[in-house]
Amino acid sequence: MSILFNENNQQFHIQTKNSSYIFCVSDFQALEHLYYGKRIPQDDVKYIGNRQIYSHLGYESRDKRDFSASVLGMEISPFNAGDIRVPSVVYNYDGKVDCNRLRYRSHTIYEGRQPIDGLPYSRVSAETETLEVVMSDDENTVEFTLYYVVYADVDVIARHQTIKNKGTMSLSIQKFTSMCVDFYGSDFDAVTLEGIYLYEKAHVSRAPIKRGIFKNNSLTGTSSHNHNPFLALCEHNADEDKGEVYGFNLLYSGNFSGEVSVNQLGDTRVLTGIDDTGFCWTLKSGEELTSPEAIMTYSDQGLGGMSRNFHDHIRQNIIEKEFAFAPRPIVINSWEASYFTVSEDKVLALAETAKDCGIDMVVLDDGWFRPHDKMGLGDWRTIKDKFPSGIKGLSEKIHAMGLKFGLWLEPEMVNEDSELYREDPKCILSTSRLPLISRSQYVLDLTRDDIVERIADRISEELEGAQIDYIKWDFNRYLTEAGSYTAAQGEVYHRQMLGAYKLLSILKQRLGNVLFETCSGGGGRFDLGMLFYSPQIWTSDNTDPYARVYIQYGTSYAYPVSAISCHFTEGECTSGRPSSYDFRYRVAAFGSYGYELDLSKYGAEDRAAFKSYSEQYRKDEDLNLNGDLYRLISPESDKFCAYIKVSKDKKKALFTFLELNATGFIECMTLRLKGLAPEKLYRNEETGEILYGATLMNVGIRIGDLYRKKREDGYMVAFTAVEE
Ligand code: DGJ
Repeated sequence: MSILFNENNQQFHIQTKNSSYIFCVSDFQALEHLYYGKRIPQDDVKYIGNRQIYSHLGYESRDKRDFSASVLGMEISPFNAGDIRVPSVVYNYDGKVDCNRLRYRSHTIYEGRQPIDGLPYSRVSAETETLEVVMSDDENTVEFTLYYVVYADVDVIARHQTIKNKGTMSLSIQKFTSMCVDFYGSDFDAVTLEGIYLYEKAHVSRAPIKRGIFKNNSLTGTSSHNHNPFLALCEHNADEDKGEVYGFNLLYSGNFSGEVSVNQLGDTRVLTGIDDTGFCWTLKSGEELTSPEAIMTYSDQGLGGMSRNFHDHIRQNIIEKEFAFAPRPIVINSWEASYFTVSEDKVLALAETAKDCGIDMVVLDDGWFRPHDKMGLGDWRTIKDKFPSGIKGLSEKIHAMGLKFGLWLEPEMVNEDSELYREDPKCILSTSRLPLISRSQYVLDLTRDDIVERIADRISEELEGAQIDYIKWDFNRYLTEAGSYTAAQGEVYHRQMLGAYKLLSILKQRLGNVLFETCSGGGGRFDLGMLFYSPQIWTSDNTDPYARVYIQYGTSYAYPVSAISCHFTEGECTSGRPSSYDFRYRVAAFGSYGYELDLSKYGAEDRAAFKSYSEQYRKDEDLNLNGDLYRLISPESDKFCAYIKVSKDKKKALFTFLELNATGFIECMTLRLKGLAPEKLYRNEETGEILYGATLMNVGIRIGDLYRKKREDGYMVAFTAVEE
């Protein structure tokens, strides 16, 4: 049992493998948070007392001034109910706010979990257990259910909540987060992933939290290139391997917010959920609203431990089970090879060469239904001159060549120059005037079910009978001036996200057992919401390998390497910076691997090199799918980057060292490996040298020894445990 309830003192104890999360039904039926941290024995939980300290703020009892919402940890904290910290929910009933103090009513504990209708969620696993706690105001008009879904083996607790209008008048919600966690004290650094288009999540930002409010959010209608729903709090001295870290993330792809606030007592509150800017949702009598799911994890093994918990949870419980641990196709994507000049002949030529390069799948990117980006989105009509066999015919030809076939779509958008827009100019998100144009396109109003169905039907009809194995689902602009002719303004951004998830679900279901890769102008929607539908995500339109090192390394803090889609490309197209083939391969092999270049320009020698890279990747792929990642040197050193992937049984490891801008004499440098078994002997598969894990991890390997080869190629070597 990972969820325990002590009747005597009304305490809940959620135990995962290494953590304890404890709260209680307090005096006056509040839900008081008591502890989150390293696991403690159940017998001692009763010693964790309530924090009833003298308060000059509002208190419940007339006799004692010690029960004040302002000084207690709270599992849910409405505005205007005595807690003066940043509220986790803001609402009013019938235009009034006088009934906001919430009381515990009941709870249930059960094995497994319920799915969340219309939203992504962590899937059920053998050990999953759920705690539901029902709270309501004194009049029982506004009811909340708080869900704690426990994944004990990976130290993750998933949380969401529902709010229900049980009264007869209308309930208006202005803020509705997914999760509230209070910590006593504020000795933490906040860690977030910052970036921009072409440099997504490349900067791992870390700073001590201070009194006041730190907010990490997006108002773009996407999780964005600029910020990411991932957020961590760690001890000031925590590093990759040691120190306490609390990691948070959200299964949501729209406007989000992670808020860390420190109050006058120096206590810290963390909230994550839908951003409340412009949010206003109305519930009529009997209606309810469910928040997106947040996940949280605790590790005393530093940021590396936190990442590995998240990686395991995402692979085991968020990504679809049939794809999560299965080898991924090595793709050749037509985009950087041909951009909009793509044609059936060019795709078939790519396919012809692909076979010599160890490639499994040809992906037809943008350009099959339009000659440039100013038309065609929304109509999805194949250009017959360029693709005389249609998508069905082309997919059959590719399959006949022994390859798989993938196709690019951007279903949430419409060009002004399209039948759909001409017929129904109200099909887009807009206010009273036209929104800003971006990449010559508008965002379809997916709050409207008829638009969702129309797009799903049009695409299904166009692809009828085609043999499709993979879909690249793109999203190339942010939302601006988003309004709807049918949905209430304060509901548009969230309803739009619900519509997008619906469209994804419908097309996934119609297309059958297809691997999805989502994308948003590169990595603009790299989040857990998308990973629920697509096992991998295109990480960035920046394919310069030197830049990719930063982008991919940053992304790995929150997301497993198998989700990080990486291609071997011309390398210079975004930066003009030359790079060697080996370097490009070593960078791209960090995640799920593929190619994006005009293969017809490459001769037999190059193709043989590509083939050997593909074979090498396949040989090591299991470490991406199932292994553990240990980060060794951050590229933000601006000199090197190094990491090692280790199999769960510690029998195999793959070490990568990349030089970015090293100056001076580095031959004497040693680097300690991580994650190996100290007592096992490992063979360096390049030099044949055999050393104990203990030696490799404590003395380290000599970097000078690596440089018998060209420094600009970087270095990648497998270590294999020698059977005794
Ligand atoms: C943006 C994506 O990130 C690219 O890979 C490519 O698919 C283009 N869109 C196509 O328009």
